[in-house]
Amino acid sequence: MTLSSQVIAVIGAGNIGRALLGGLVRGNHIQPHQVRATRRLASAVQRLQRDFPGIHCGTDNVAAVREASLVVLAVKPMNAAEVLTEIAPHVRPDTLIVTVVAGLTTEAILKALGNLIAVVRAMPNTPMLVDKGATAIARGTQAKAAHMNVVRRMFEAVGKVEEVPETLMDAVTGLSGSGPAYVFMLIEALTDAGVKQGLMRSIAFRLSTQTVLGAATLVAQTGKHPAILRDEVTTPGGTAIAAIAELESHGLRTMIINAVATATQRSKELSRA
Ligand SMILES: NC(=O)c1ccc[n+]([C@@H]2O[C@H](COP(=O)([O-])OP(=O)(O)OC[C@H]3O[C@@H](n4cnc5c(N)ncnc54)[C@H](OP(=O)(O)O)[C@@H]3O)[C@@H](O)[C@H]2O)c1
Repeated sequence: MTLSSQVIAVIGAGNIGRALLGGLVRGNHIQPHQVRATRRLASAVQRLQRDFPGIHCGTDNVAAVREASLVVLAVKPMNAAEVLTEIAPHVRPDTLIVTVVAGLTTEAILKALGNLIAVVRAMPNTPMLVDKGATAIARGTQAKAAHMNVVRRMFEAVGKVEEVPETLMDAVTGLSGSGPAYVFMLIEALTDAGVKQGLMRSIAFRLSTQTVLGAATLVAQTGKHPAILRDEVTTPGGTAIAAIAELESHGLRTMIINAVATATQRSKELSRA
């Protein structure tokens, strides 16, 4: 079972679906003629077709699912139940279902589509729009290693992938799923901080963005523990340690730990709703 041999149907090709399609087609992981993508609005279908020449776009979910060997459910959570009801009679027993819908469990999908279907749940994040996504994948009861491999390859087209047990998907939602929002706030705050110290906003913005990008790249490329890298830039009696003391006095780490815990709890509540 390989990614390049799949016919992929993306049901609900909005932000996440389009980002995935973009990575797959740009990276030559699949050919455009192997892709089916659906939206409800005719104007959105036209835009999709213009942006992804050669893929099959339309509003007909049933036709897309009938032709597909791999179906990606990428609609909003509130639309998931109606889509599952619509496609259920047309999903072949050997079709692989991948869901990115927040809170939608593999168990709920098995209930809707039949107990023998291979289902993989994924939680990506928006940096996948620039091929820097962080995606966690979790195996449904019927999914085999070969299915996980194909799904891993698919999301690797738009970033990094980790496999976790499904019970940890809420934690993933609180960490990497919602995480870009926390980092955007950090960039915004650093920019304001620079402006407060007299820097032009545009310059402060570029410096802040590049600092976050550079620091993350340094951690990723060196594999060094962040505390070691922090020690390396902390001169005795210097500027960085003065700022670190200030951050610690406000409990920066506890604040972030609690924020992720709150987001995880909220994800659990939404899954139950
Ligand atoms: N955004 C994130 O950071 C993020 C991260 C991880 C997971 N997710 C999950 O990814 C999913 C998609 O999020 P998104 O941000 O990409 O939302 P989105 O941009 O609103 O995309 C969802 C698309 O689904 C289409 N749709 C709705 N009902 C449909 C139907 N019955 N048949 C065909 N298409 C239908 C809509 O098309 P029309 O407008 O034409 O109706 C819309 O474009 C959500 O379930 C979310 O929980 C999002």
